Amino acid sequence: MKSDNPRILVTGGAGFIGSNYARMILRSLTSCELVILDKFTYSGSKLTLVDIADDPRVTIVEGDICDVSAVNRALEGCDAVVNFAAETHVDRSLIDPASFIHTNVHGTWVLLEAVRQHYEVRFVQVSTDEVYGAVLSGQSVETDLIHPRNPYSASKAGAEMMAIAYAESHGVDVVITRGSNTYGPYQYPEKFIPLMITNVIEGRTIPVYGDGLQVRHWIHADDHARAIHTALLHGKSGEIYNAGSDDERTNISVARAVVDLLGASDDLIEHVTDRPGHDRRYALSSDKLRSLGWEPSWTFDEGIKQTVDWYRENSDWWRAVRDASFEEYYQSNYGGRTAMSPSDTDQE
Ligand code: TYD
Repeated sequence: MKSDNPRILVTGGAGFIGSNYARMILRSLTSCELVILDKFTYSGSKLTLVDIADDPRVTIVEGDICDVSAVNRALEGCDAVVNFAAETHVDRSLIDPASFIHTNVHGTWVLLEAVRQHYEVRFVQVSTDEVYGAVLSGQSVETDLIHPRNPYSASKAGAEMMAIAYAESHGVDVVITRGSNTYGPYQYPEKFIPLMITNVIEGRTIPVYGDGLQVRHWIHADDHARAIHTALLHGKSGEIYNAGSDDERTNISVARAVVDLLGASDDLIEHVTDRPGHDRRYALSSDKLRSLGWEPSWTFDEGIKQTVDWYRENSDWWRAVRDASFEEYYQSNYGGRTAMSPSDTDQE
């Protein structure tokens, strides 16, 4: 991709990682053009783009990656496409898997097909560590077999496979990134970290699934955005790159850190019925991406503090993006779960 004044299509640019990527690019490249294509669903709001919408380097297009003509129009003149557009919440994929297959698999295919037919661009498929499935010890490397265990991760694995197929069969210049659990500003408040922060601010309990000893690697959105851009600029065609931090935490320890930073009581933490098929642990080795010159800059302790402060200072944003459907979702996901006493769990 030309590094001088590139034009990049950012699909799903009003979502969490996509909007952080757009901001990072605008901060670091004075001369560039970003085309943000977003369907503006419940988790991708125009409010998320308010601070960059008037930037002359940005064009915002409302459209769906499943819509062939919208995709073809958006790709016009671009040097690269970074596909962030996806349904991403595991819990929702257990309730409504069809929309995950539609957007994540079919939508990725529509993009790949448009590229194959008309455009010579590099295609970055933003994927997830969840495709590896639960990893009880050690760290996943890119050559490991994948073993997705929920409809969300299966749909992301399907998208990856389609991207690889287009690289192998049609020579499309594809690079795939697999990021670990990401946190930071502008994450829709149904994901674990912003859910906890906003619930504590509102004096609600925070629901921790099962014993809370599930383990995740947490990466700050800014580090994740830089990782994706490193893969775009320097990744080898047809290759996969893990993007994770070494900050490995149990969910319960993250819950305690959030409660602590907000000066609240641990009593707000409520263990509830576990998520079905809940992957016990994800962990990535990112040596391959590090060899391209990337490394994370945030420690979890610094990043979680910055994130908590951001949600404290931006309550207008998160209150506004949670529309009426949020409470409906909350009821459907949490209403049927029963609170568990600590003795019902294996907690330390
Ligand atoms: P989530 O943000 O949904 O990401 P993922 O499932 O993709 O890792 O959840 C992060 C972890 O937090 C995961 O182990 C599930 C757990 N979790 C809870 O314990 N309670 C909750 O209310 C949510 C949303 C997640």
